Amino acid sequence: MQSEIKLVSDADELSRVGAAEFEHLARNAVQARGRFTVSLSGGSTPRGLYSRVAQAGQNLPWDKIYFFWGDERHVPPDDKDSNYRMARESLLSHAPIPPDHVFRMHAEDKDAARVADQYEQTLMQFFGLKPGELPRFDLVLLGLGPDGHTASLFPGSAALRERSRLVVANWVEKFGHYRLTFTAPVINNAAEVMFLVSGEEKAPALQSVLYSDAPPEQFPAKLIQPVNGRLIWLVDRAALPGSSALQSKPA
Ligand code: 6PG
Repeated sequence: MQSEIKLVSDADELSRVGAAEFEHLARNAVQARGRFTVSLSGGSTPRGLYSRVAQAGQNLPWDKIYFFWGDERHVPPDDKDSNYRMARESLLSHAPIPPDHVFRMHAEDKDAARVADQYEQTLMQFFGLKPGELPRFDLVLLGLGPDGHTASLFPGSAALRERSRLVVANWVEKFGHYRLTFTAPVINNAAEVMFLVSGEEKAPALQSVLYSDAPPEQFPAKLIQPVNGRLIWLVDRAALPGSSALQSKPA
């Protein structure tokens, strides 16, 4: 695994650098394999990156890009908390993306386990997987919570230990809700994983994830170690204070 930290000055530069990486990977993947598969992250950090990507216009081969989500809240697609809604507002509705290239989780279904099962089938069909095989996304975007969670892999939750399923409904005690999430093996099979981490509230968790020997049960983002891919930590100075520019992450 190749792992690196890209240190940027602030959230705006993070969006700009992240969008440039997205576009670079998309063009390369389409040129090499005829398509670009990307798993979007939720929360608020990616919004600026998505908006910039949407402005790429003809510089991107939109008809060869396929959009998925690494996690979703257990809410309808028009809910204020929906990760799909955030991506639709900031990216999907501002670019010429064929509707059948957007694979959202049908989280309006009250049965969270069924949502996970259906999305797992969607991945199996799209990537042509046999049972036991993993999808290989060209890019998985991730955020980091102040508690060290990523996607919807929360500290102490059952999904952290899942090694055979692709997508699960993960009960998150502190919310009293289910979340839908990729499991760590799916994320770790990606060609590239890029964390987007901005703001001082993330600094303690980022420090623990990058430099402490705390267990992944406590800081689930530590589970993310691509088995044959690139790991980029795109972080701003507020999230990683006292760092020199462009340092590589310790092994
Ligand atoms: C979600 C995300 C989650 C998010 C982090 C950071 O569904 O909320 O997938 O993992 O990336 O919580 O969220 P912010 O970007 O809002 O800080």
